[in-house]
Amino acid sequence: MKITVIGTGYVGLVSGVCFSEFGFDVVCVDNNVAKITALQRGDIPLYEPGLDKLLLKNIQAERLSFSTDAKESVRDADIVFIAVGTPSKSDGSADLSCVYQAVDELAASVNKDAVLVIKSTVPVGTTRAVKNFLLNRGVKLDVVFNPEFLKEGAAVEDFMHPDRVILGVESERAREILSHVYRPLYVFNIPIVFTSLETAELSKYASNAFLAMKITFINEIANLCECCGADVNEVALAMGLDKRIGDQFLQAGPGYGGSCFPKDTSALEDFAHKLGAAMPLVNETIRSNGDRRQRMVEKILQACDHDVKGKNISVLGVTFKADTDDMRDSPSIDIIEELIKRGARIKIYDPSFSKQAEKIFSDVVWSKNAYDNCSDADAVVIITDWSEFRALNLKELRHRVRNPLLIDLRSMYPVSEVKASGFAYCSVGRGFEKLES
Ligand code: UGA
Repeated sequence: MKITVIGTGYVGLVSGVCFSEFGFDVVCVDNNVAKITALQRGDIPLYEPGLDKLLLKNIQAERLSFSTDAKESVRDADIVFIAVGTPSKSDGSADLSCVYQAVDELAASVNKDAVLVIKSTVPVGTTRAVKNFLLNRGVKLDVVFNPEFLKEGAAVEDFMHPDRVILGVESERAREILSHVYRPLYVFNIPIVFTSLETAELSKYASNAFLAMKITFINEIANLCECCGADVNEVALAMGLDKRIGDQFLQAGPGYGGSCFPKDTSALEDFAHKLGAAMPLVNETIRSNGDRRQRMVEKILQACDHDVKGKNISVLGVTFKADTDDMRDSPSIDIIEELIKRGARIKIYDPSFSKQAEKIFSDVVWSKNAYDNCSDADAVVIITDWSEFRALNLKELRHRVRNPLLIDLRSMYPVSEVKASGFAYCSVGRGFEKLES
């Protein structure tokens, strides 16, 4: 079975590498020459735990290769996956130009018996439109929609042990071929659900929007906790023990970011509106999450006596979540920019040493570790939930800072522990514990 994957972003690269790990022959294609040259050498252009080892192993086993030539790479492929980006346009709709560019490019040379699988997240109706687009060019292919549910930072594990595989198919033949591709998951009893194209497309948006809404809900509960003396972590624990609710995605924080939830909730809102369906919960999720960053700035200002001018703020973590170097739509961007505008002096330590972050923040000082970053700080602000911030030596930190104030936007510490180490502690969804004077 020969597989060609077009697009080497998170979804394309992880899928390509993992399919080769399953034992298939895989070619990953991208029109970015520098990226493909790096990948051919075994260099990964993104930070994803575990991916580098699998990549090298499968290149050496000659099951995995990279190319910039889409036309040639699809010629003898049995399956072609399209996993190119579908970023947001300024009106919130999904930009499908890369999908159509890829389809256009492969139309002339694709193996006529191949199955074309759209893995990019696309609005409902797109897969059928792609099928018709090809028919208009005289190419009759089986076209399938197969959403990807992997999370950055856990992408390999999510691909290898998914909760489910969703396949929008329209022919028995496509169903058989895709069953074969995902047969390696059979040993783990992973449910494989076959649906129509439209149902599979909507399943992806509905899943992401639901998770975004769940996070937004717990953030609203966090706001309420701050007003009534409850502890959001304990409320989340109590809720999550109910199996109907589940304990995941109930961590309150600075709001969701990244390349998926913001983009997909906007696209869902856009295409639902065009189809005449109202989505007030999704609209409110987008609005509430948007407001969250300003609320975090206000929280920081309040803890700093409403004045950060000339103060040293030590920021721990800037990526949109832990275990990635990805800065796309990270809450840290808005928060730090606002603090800089108000005259704060910002020092940053992020365990990924993200190159993207270095390009975004110019007027800041970068540190090599958390402790150096906190020297002479007037406030330490945790923005990203990196594991190494879970067990900081607070006593050691206490000696480094100028003013013992910890503002923890991920509520990672028990309040009593922080207080005992001599810090004032301002977290999310719990009261502000000031130092006794
Ligand atoms: C998300 C989905 O979780 C994946 O299933 C999906 O495949 C992917 O989008 C996609 O569409 O490609 P991802 O954006 O990588 O994955 O990251 P998440 O772990 O979902 O986190 C998204 C944001 O929510 C982050 O900013 C994170 O900090 C925040 N979050 C997450 C919370 O604030 N609280 C939580 O409890 C969980």
